[in-house]
Amino acid sequence: MRQLIYISTVRGSQSDNGLAQLLAVSRMNNRQDDVTGLLLYNGNRFLQVLEGSDLALTHTYERIATDERHRSLVLLSDREIDDREFGDWSMAFEQDSAGADFADLAGQVERAVVQASPNTKALFESFAKAA
Ligand SMILES: Cc1cc2nc3c(=O)[nH]c(=O)nc-3n(C[C@H](O)[C@H](O)[C@H](O)COP(=O)(O)O)c2cc1C
Repeated sequence: MRQLIYISTVRGSQSDNGLAQLLAVSRMNNRQDDVTGLLLYNGNRFLQVLEGSDLALTHTYERIATDERHRSLVLLSDREIDDREFGDWSMAFEQDSAGADFADLAGQVERAVVQASPNTKALFESFAKAA
């Protein structure tokens, strides 16, 4: 099992509709390819973790890397894992929506990373706090 983490910068601005569509397609593909993960968006940057077979991740990341909705992808981690850390989610999504009363990116992320390794947890928590 492989786990891959990257960060990227949004190109232009993504509407709620655009994001919803991106997520729907991602979830459908990921379910089909047995890929799991978490995608964070703070209005400027994406932070995403992907988990699955070597082949599935290679193909998924190739598609994501050439997607014009974001740019400047930086691969932060690419490693072998024994067990999935985000096994329940075909693609969990948390978005910072400053001003909305339900918004608490840090709190939501804390719940999403309970099974993650210390490094992964720290990375996602610091991204959420900096948002
Ligand atoms: C930030 C971001 C995250 C994405 N995450 C996924 C993902 O987890 N799985 C996926 O299949 N596509 C993901 N996509 C969408 C792919 O880039 C691509 O549009 C989609 O897989 C459909 O590819 P196709 O048009 O070649 O069929 C993501 C795109 C962006 C911008």
